[in-house]
Amino acid sequence: MVVLGIETTCDETAAAVVERPPSGPGRILSNVVLSQIDEHAAFGGVVPEIAARAHVEALDLIIAQAMKEAGVGFAALDGIAVAAGPGLIGGVIVGLTTAKAIALVREKPLIAVNHLEAHALTARLTNATPFPYCLFLASGGHTQIVAVLGVGNYERLGTTVDDAIGEAFDKVAKLIGLPYPGGPQVEKEARLGDAARIALPRPMLGRPHADFSLSGLKTAFRLEAEKMAPLSEADVRDLCAAFQQSVVDVVADRLRAGLRIFRERHGAPTALVAGGGVAANEAIRQVLQQVATEAGTVLVAPPAELCTDNGAMIAWAGAERLALGLTDALDAAPHARWPLKDVRGPARETTPSLLLDTIDANRGGG
Ligand code: KG4
Ligand code: ZN
Repeated sequence: MVVLGIETTCDETAAAVVERPPSGPGRILSNVVLSQIDEHAAFGGVVPEIAARAHVEALDLIIAQAMKEAGVGFAALDGIAVAAGPGLIGGVIVGLTTAKAIALVREKPLIAVNHLEAHALTARLTNATPFPYCLFLASGGHTQIVAVLGVGNYERLGTTVDDAIGEAFDKVAKLIGLPYPGGPQVEKEARLGDAARIALPRPMLGRPHADFSLSGLKTAFRLEAEKMAPLSEADVRDLCAAFQQSVVDVVADRLRAGLRIFRERHGAPTALVAGGGVAANEAIRQVLQQVATEAGTVLVAPPAELCTDNGAMIAWAGAERLALGLTDALDAAPHARWPLKDVRGPARETTPSLLLDTIDANRGGG
């Protein structure tokens, strides 16, 4: 099964062709990603209108390049997958409309993929990880711990009550004058810094639930930076190191809670899976490995280019859905918001005992 995947929900214009064999991991035939970072850098963050226009300008060429690199014609495709949300609505509409046009003209099934579901299923593309597993998804827009129970079957165990982790990295970077996107910059500075010099809080530490909060940490960081201003190079490094260490400690604690809740509800996970741009952070990867080992499971951390937004993850999620007959009509709607719990899955069989209960109840009633 060969599927084209299109991703335009944020600031990457991406297209890829992926092959899904009957079993085992997938094969990426091409994976083209055009980042719009330069277009947004001057504004210190993604500007939705600029993003949508840039997607319009680039998408046709990116798709053509993905098809060329894959060495397949449109006729060889089994389906056209596209991220239909959640994300910036202008960009989502650009990708979805393009995918619909290709599906219509080439008479191929359309698969409207949830962007979060695509992050969630990437571990199956790279490692053929069996269900059920525990996903830690941390990007610029999302921070979630999710029980991935099957295609279209997800349970959110924890999320952030305010900022996403990537967003917090970006905001503290901006506060001390580092360029956008801040995550990789903060990591670079942190490598040379002394985390112990500045005391920052660890929000939510020890709570029984698996939720995150980042805004208090961000405020504490700002107050420390203001106290130290004007900042020397060493100050910047130490601030970054302290912030990153705080995030690392919080991530470890929240994941321990998440994995405990997972076990209580679903038994042992087959793996702890990392996804989203923040999972590219080496210090965070290390602590994920530690938490996984402690929990008696393995860490599956796809390569960084498959953790950040890309077309291959959309193509793969599309192929997984297509294999189950989950295709979408050509009037599929774009979504700015689309929580994982609202993703459609295959019809689940009613268990015989439930059926008997219903019959008994009906009898009892008359
Ligand atoms: O998944 P992604 O590419 O895009 C979405 O937000 O959907 O994630 C981008 C986010 C940005 O906030 C960026 O600062 C953060 O991931 N990020 C990092 C690192 N690389 C990217 N955060 C911390 N350390 C990194 N090395
Ligand atoms: Zn993403």
